[in-house]
Amino acid sequence: MSMGDRNAEMRSAIVMDWTDSHYYRNAEGWLDTFWAPRSPFLPLFRQLDLTRVIELACGHGRHAAQILDQAGEITLIDFEPRNIAACRERFAGRDKLRFIVNAGHDLPGCEDGGTSALFSYDAMVHFELLDVIAYIREAHRVLRPGGRALLHVSNNRQNPGGFYHQNTHWRNFGSLDVFLHVADRIGFERLDSRTLDWSGAKELDGLMLLERRA
Ligand SMILES: C[S@@+](CC[C@H](N)C(=O)[O-])C[C@H]1O[C@@H](n2cnc3c(N)ncnc32)[C@H](O)[C@@H]1O
Repeated sequence: MSMGDRNAEMRSAIVMDWTDSHYYRNAEGWLDTFWAPRSPFLPLFRQLDLTRVIELACGHGRHAAQILDQAGEITLIDFEPRNIAACRERFAGRDKLRFIVNAGHDLPGCEDGGTSALFSYDAMVHFELLDVIAYIREAHRVLRPGGRALLHVSNNRQNPGGFYHQNTHWRNFGSLDVFLHVADRIGFERLDSRTLDWSGAKELDGLMLLERRA
């Protein structure tokens, strides 16, 4: 898919917010959202085969740290080189990890059909809609038939054409329904999907568990 310059401009502006932020230090303190037994994320995560798993937009690796002992090979991918550098440092000496800096819309270094699962938390909610669609296509490329993707996306239908700073909790324009439709057409089966409230904002986010059709 060829993308306009405006999409690329927005993508570059977005990633600048996630370079050296306090977010990473604070975020280690609210892992329960994703990993506590009552979390809506956990039952879906447990349906992933972690033999060869990709975490997209990994930040400083707080989620990867949760799954180190359960997973086979873990590939950490992020658009921001400083975040991948932080992960290299955090996981130094652990040989099951791979570290990849990407171009913000692709999964370089990941072979076709070579991945059992891919997940992304608290990141795609901020991404440009065209980039989310590009990642769904890339996820389909790299997953084996039957492989699964668990994606936390934006369901903010307000402010089309705007910049994400203007939106509640910096959610970019997105729609769970649109992403589910796109995923179907690209070749995924929907195993589960739900809207999520985020910090009091009703149905601001979406979570979808997809399986690559054979
Ligand atoms: C809010 S942080 C979340 C990090 C991690 N997922 C977590 O929950 O701790 C957003 C992450 O998305 C990354 N990012 C921003 N734009 C991206 C893009 N277009 N493609 C891949 N990663 C991107 C940032 O570098 C950052 O690591």
